[in-house]
Amino acid sequence: MKSSFAPLALALAALPSLADPPRPDEVISPATCDAQAKAAAMDSRTPVPLIPMMAHHQREQMRGHLESVQAVLQGLSANDFVATEKAARSMGFTEQMGMMCEHMGAGAPGFSEQALKFHHSADKVADAAHRKDRAGVLKALDVTLQACTACHASYRQQVVDQATYDAAAAAAGNKSGPP
Ligand code: HEC
Repeated sequence: MKSSFAPLALALAALPSLADPPRPDEVISPATCDAQAKAAAMDSRTPVPLIPMMAHHQREQMRGHLESVQAVLQGLSANDFVATEKAARSMGFTEQMGMMCEHMGAGAPGFSEQALKFHHSADKVADAAHRKDRAGVLKALDVTLQACTACHASYRQQVVDQATYDAAAAAAGNKSGPP
């Protein structure tokens, strides 16, 4: 009798605190899992395997990029080249950004290359703003937005566990690791 409770006790210990139940929208039923799998199957883009924290971070970054594009146009429409340059540079290439993109794309061949191309194109927008070259800003912004849409046309997020992410990175010949 005593021993039959041991597995239950172990299972309960592994659960998150019962005093802190998940929100209803955080409970993923098998039917919801199935619905998510169906949606993924309809999407023929290349999956970018990411662990949940990385996927969340990537979406945050993306919303930030959209805000930067908006700020570039706001700056340009106000003839404020300093603000335009600052907004564009926030999408530009840095060593840290490059490392993050490589981790994000570790399991999806070609993803990091597209990401780096995008960041370098944003630097051209900032360079044109620095020269107060309005036509140059617009031209470079067009190239940058083409990098956004080309990547969105090719890749989608795939939220996976750490082992799946590590295996995908290894299969692509890359090192996995935290972003
Ligand atoms: C190297 C690839 C790549 C580039 C470049 C890129 N994105 Fe994304 N973006 C993604 C992926 C992957 C997703 C997830 C989409 C999905 O799973 O359907 C995403 C999602 C988004 C989202 C949705 C965020 C959310 O909260 O769900 C926005 C907004 C976005 N991108 C804006 C942009 C903008 C604006 C640019 C350019 C200035 C850009 N992205 C450039 C890959 C990219």
